[in-house]
Amino acid sequence: MSESVPVSTAVIGGTGLQALAGFQAEAEHALQTPFGAPSAPVQEGRLDGRRCLFLARHGVPHRIPPHRINYRANLWALRELGADAVLAVNAVGGINPTMPPGRLVVPDQVVDYTWGRAHSYYDGDGVSAPVSDQLSELEHVDFTEPYDAGLRQRLLAAGNALGLQLDSAGTYAATQGPRLESAAEIRRLANDGCDVVGMTGMPEAALARELGLPYASLCIVVNAAAGLGTEPITLEAMSEVLEAGSARVAELLLVLIK
Ligand code: HPA
Repeated sequence: MSESVPVSTAVIGGTGLQALAGFQAEAEHALQTPFGAPSAPVQEGRLDGRRCLFLARHGVPHRIPPHRINYRANLWALRELGADAVLAVNAVGGINPTMPPGRLVVPDQVVDYTWGRAHSYYDGDGVSAPVSDQLSELEHVDFTEPYDAGLRQRLLAAGNALGLQLDSAGTYAATQGPRLESAAEIRRLANDGCDVVGMTGMPEAALARELGLPYASLCIVVNAAAGLGTEPITLEAMSEVLEAGSARVAELLLVLIK
């Protein structure tokens, strides 16, 4: 990243957040990274006067399934463009009965059940030149606290300022998808101590940590996880909850970025 790139908060929008309400785009950056192309061009613009970046995780249009997202390219591109913090928005299923559809959750822990994803920048063979000086020496990053404490506090404070009901902790289960889980898989996740389940939280959080980017997630519960609800899980039902919730998410981002 060159010295002259101004810093800014980046938002990675997931399902239901393909665009940021109130965001005035000023430029679009179609970057290539050493890891390939990000999901979509990164939008640079202003949210209430503050510079910020926005990236649609599933691409534009919304087509890239969770296991095919180029998480490495996405975070690399945001850092290249001067992101000093990354806020991820994730649609999730609720496992904990206190987290029903419509609820907003700021998770503080994660369990990774994904497989076969490019999950690290430390991926060289030790012989070829590393893609960047920063990655030349293998580092086992500390992931005890997967989310950045300062950014989580900012999110919670923004939620408080708006009087939103926001869960201030929770364990996010990252599953492979793109199918939803079986009821038995959800029982297993509940036994493992997971509160919400989604498909995109990892390796995103770990890659941000490898790059030294403060990262936090704002989850919106869009359905009761498999086997826990009374209705079948349908895209239509999830979309309804998302539509109703996206205004609160946008408001929160606005306050956070201010
Ligand atoms: N499981 C996994 N990912 C999800 C879900 C779910 O129930 N809802 C939204 N994303």
